[in-house]
Amino acid sequence: MSLIKGGIIVQEQLKQLEQEAIEKVANVVDLKALQEIQVAYTGRKGSITEVLRGMGKLSKEERPIIGELANKVRASIQATIDEKKAALELEQLEKQLEKETIDVTLPGRPVQFGGSHVLTSLIEEIEDLFIGLGYEVREGPEVETDYYNFEALNLPKGHPARDMQDSFYITNELLLRTHTSPVQARTMRALDGQEPIRMICPGKVYRRDSDDATHSHQFTQIEGLYVDKNVRMSDLKGTLDLFAKKMFGEDRDIRLRPSFFPFTEPSVEMDISCKVCSGEGCSVCKQTGWIEILGAGMVHPSVLEMAGYDPNVYTGFAFGMGPDRIAMLKYGIEDIRRFYTNDMRFLKQFHEA
Ligand code: PHE
Repeated sequence: MSLIKGGIIVQEQLKQLEQEAIEKVANVVDLKALQEIQVAYTGRKGSITEVLRGMGKLSKEERPIIGELANKVRASIQATIDEKKAALELEQLEKQLEKETIDVTLPGRPVQFGGSHVLTSLIEEIEDLFIGLGYEVREGPEVETDYYNFEALNLPKGHPARDMQDSFYITNELLLRTHTSPVQARTMRALDGQEPIRMICPGKVYRRDSDDATHSHQFTQIEGLYVDKNVRMSDLKGTLDLFAKKMFGEDRDIRLRPSFFPFTEPSVEMDISCKVCSGEGCSVCKQTGWIEILGAGMVHPSVLEMAGYDPNVYTGFAFGMGPDRIAMLKYGIEDIRRFYTNDMRFLKQFHEA
């Protein structure tokens, strides 16, 4: 059957739409515009639908013919759109790949490696040594109470020995700890006289000193404490001798000189034989042949008692050393401020390449 007038008009309209759409698709340069064309022609509210609305006016015979034609036109427009879409997508991908091209021949950027601060490494080395001897590592607060920093260590208020350590007070009762010894008082208190103790505690300490080549208002210390039944001075000496040999070399000797600390009795200072002159006397050891390394002693009975340990049952030794000073001796550093001014040229010397 052939179309009569109404059908012919619709047929023309559809063909025209097809041609128009195909032309537009051909000129499109981006996916968004293509999408708009799709909506405008084949969409639910698009031109083809619009034309088909007029179908009601057509005869019963014409409708299936026009219906079929409309489907063909829609399919043809869709096919053109799909083809264009694939082409545009490919083009876009190629552009992107081109943009993201990596020049594998470019030399790489050097990666900067960080490393531990020389004092941190030294503290870890000392920790390892004492962990090997069965010690535990403990920490305590840097803002300390007057009680733990002084009183519990046999330094009551007004005691003249407090002047040995000029302090930064925050309030009457709080200060920046002047040594790591409060951690021994805290550890003993926490265990309340019930158990033996073998601990070391590294950390920062603060003193009201004017900074110069050998003084820093903030430096580091490591405190060691060993409390048990029958701990003797000879145990202290043996431990310190072992420490000195591991730290400075097997050929080093130690000597203990009588000294005074309020929290130990008897108290000693330990020297090691000078490596530079092997005991002959030189400028490093101030002509004495010996270099002072640390303070130590047998824990004062009052300190044990205040912490809840019965001094008739328990004895102990304690020692305190300064990693700053040890590092200075070990590496021949002449100014303590080098540790804290963070000049990379200085710090990097201690990192492996
Ligand atoms: N705390 C002492 C100081 O800072 C060092 C020390 C610790 C001495 C333990 C004896 C025993 O000077």
